[in-house]
Amino acid sequence: MLQGRKILLVIGGGIAAYKCLDLIRRLAERGAGVTPVLTRAAQEFVTPLSVAALSGRKVYTDLFDLTDEAEMGHIQLSREADLVVVAPATADLLAKMAGGQANDLATTLLMATDKRVLVAPAMNVRMWEHPATQRNVKTLQSDGVLFTGPNEGDMACGEFGPGRMSEPLEIVAAIEAALSGGPLKGKHILVTSGPTHEPIDPVRYIANRSSGAQGTAVAEALAGLGARVTFVTGPADADRPVGVDVIEVETAREMLAAVEGALPADAAVFAAAVADWRMASETSSKIKKDSSGRVPELELTENPDILKTVAHMGRGRPPLVVGFAAETDDVIANAAAKRERKGCDWIVANDVSPETGIMGGDENAVTLITAEGQESWPRLSKVEVARRLAARIAEAL
Ligand code: CTP
Repeated sequence: MLQGRKILLVIGGGIAAYKCLDLIRRLAERGAGVTPVLTRAAQEFVTPLSVAALSGRKVYTDLFDLTDEAEMGHIQLSREADLVVVAPATADLLAKMAGGQANDLATTLLMATDKRVLVAPAMNVRMWEHPATQRNVKTLQSDGVLFTGPNEGDMACGEFGPGRMSEPLEIVAAIEAALSGGPLKGKHILVTSGPTHEPIDPVRYIANRSSGAQGTAVAEALAGLGARVTFVTGPADADRPVGVDVIEVETAREMLAAVEGALPADAAVFAAAVADWRMASETSSKIKKDSSGRVPELELTENPDILKTVAHMGRGRPPLVVGFAAETDDVIANAAAKRERKGCDWIVANDVSPETGIMGGDENAVTLITAEGQESWPRLSKVEVARRLAARIAEAL
């Protein structure tokens, strides 16, 4: 699948630069054309001559090489590739990219390109874990930059931990994935996530323990398979997913309005823990303590059921509607009944009893219930549950 694809490979200045020679060879074997660009620091680790020999191409090294500018300007160089790959992406290069600097050929190309950028970070573990680097990674991810690695292991500097560059074959796989577009390309999928907050008065609200972690992971997994994702979230603790359209809401009614506004969709996944009740009447004044010690009685009314509303839509119903069932007792039987009652196609049942640690935790143990039957998955990270679910959705659409 890489036959004839054009890769602009920016080689940064790190000890892992030597692995790029193997990467170029692997890409060439698969028929890809690699145009290499070496930063000044990279030239301390690999020579332009060896890179040119392996790639069979001219190696670009300096923005101010007037001959190159006459032959091919940096704008053209950055545009004619199908994908820009930065390997190794050093802490310095990531910082420059996140800050939008363009003070040499490599960073200018990265600013000028209109193509996707995949980076393979490589650095000392402390540099990788430094808050500045982590901040830059987050910025770049939200700009849509793709990452492969870093891996964990022994490092050239003698320390151990995350910071090793992905192996050449892992980078090749990431390049293939980035260029394939994914099985959900062209599909629009709606995901709800997080809790909702239902105001009691201007300072208090009804909420629940949902962190939004599972919904976030589902949105990212679907986006990773190429879907256009609209993510409607309540006030969740989890970081917002990257590469998706995020709509922030507070209450169940706002969530329903945002969901209806985001349709049509090819599929909808309802991972939100929507509050079932809200105050029957709204008050704009803070409820005060009564000197007699009388406790206020909160009169509640039921919130709209967003999943049920969408699942029962006639025209405009997404072809695949997936709900989650948070249960503490008779998990499978209750979830199966919930699937029927709500009218959704699939339901992902999970046991949220406190002893499972699932609500607010990083792991989930789910059973996928469909019209055809049920399938229990082992206890997995929420990210892995999301990947499996996204893969099933991709098969079904
Ligand atoms: N859901 C929804 N709108 C609501 C309540 C729930 O969209 N007002 C969705 C959730 O996002 C989830 C599914 O319905 O996909 C089931 O949610 P859950 O909390 O397990 O069930 P409830 O409908 O609240 O039923 P119960 O509280 O009786 O278990």
